[in-house]
Amino acid sequence: MLNTPEKSLSTIIKERKSVRIYDSNYIISKEEIEEILKEATLAPSSSNLQSWKFLVISDPTIKKELRAIANNQEQVETSSAIIAVLGDVDAYKNVERIYKSGYEKGYIDEASMERVIKSTYNTYPNAPLEVRKNIASFDAGLVSMQLMLIAKSKGYDTVTMGGFDKEKFVEKFNIEDRYIPIVLIAIGKAAGPAFNTTRLPLDEVVRFI
Ligand SMILES: Cc1cc2nc3c(=O)[nH]c(=O)nc-3n(C[C@H](O)[C@H](O)[C@H](O)COP(=O)(O)O)c2cc1C
Repeated sequence: MLNTPEKSLSTIIKERKSVRIYDSNYIISKEEIEEILKEATLAPSSSNLQSWKFLVISDPTIKKELRAIANNQEQVETSSAIIAVLGDVDAYKNVERIYKSGYEKGYIDEASMERVIKSTYNTYPNAPLEVRKNIASFDAGLVSMQLMLIAKSKGYDTVTMGGFDKEKFVEKFNIEDRYIPIVLIAIGKAAGPAFNTTRLPLDEVVRFI
């Protein structure tokens, strides 16, 4: 585990950049990836249904094969791991487990738990697939952002990649129908700088009323 001094959230946000050059010999332990994911999954989600799933790929041979369906992007092979973030369009099926555990911990009363479970079963399964895909993509985006900042705070770098063949990915990793691939996040120890990037001026993207 890396021993990095605590940095403020603002510093971590400013220092996070998409890194595409990694030390290919650097191994991040399964335990540390689990720790990052555990914190990342504290992200908010629609009705707390947590419509995300992760596939962590660190096997060098599989990463090499994945590179071939990810626009031949070097970081797919040279990073320590690829965390594929999938969206779960059937996340409503988790509702009982999630709300029962909140009830058992004393966070909600029984009537509220039952109300949420009932209303979830009344709304989510009937929502068009497109709507459920949007919800799952949004939740996956929130957890991904959180994951990248946590990784940075632990001394690692990341790059999110949407550039991969999603159909081939589903086929290669036998992904069940309910999951949609959203992004691949490469995580590792930087061996070169990120590109600098700029942002549009705030007054172009904000309107105060
Ligand atoms: C949804 C999404 C998809 C992206 N896909 C790729 C990609 O396939 N390959 C890549 O090198 N960078 C990819 N990026 C990284 C962006 O290029 C990068 O975030 C952006 O240029 C801003 O730079 P920064 O992350 O260093 O601030 C992606 C970012 C996002 C959010």
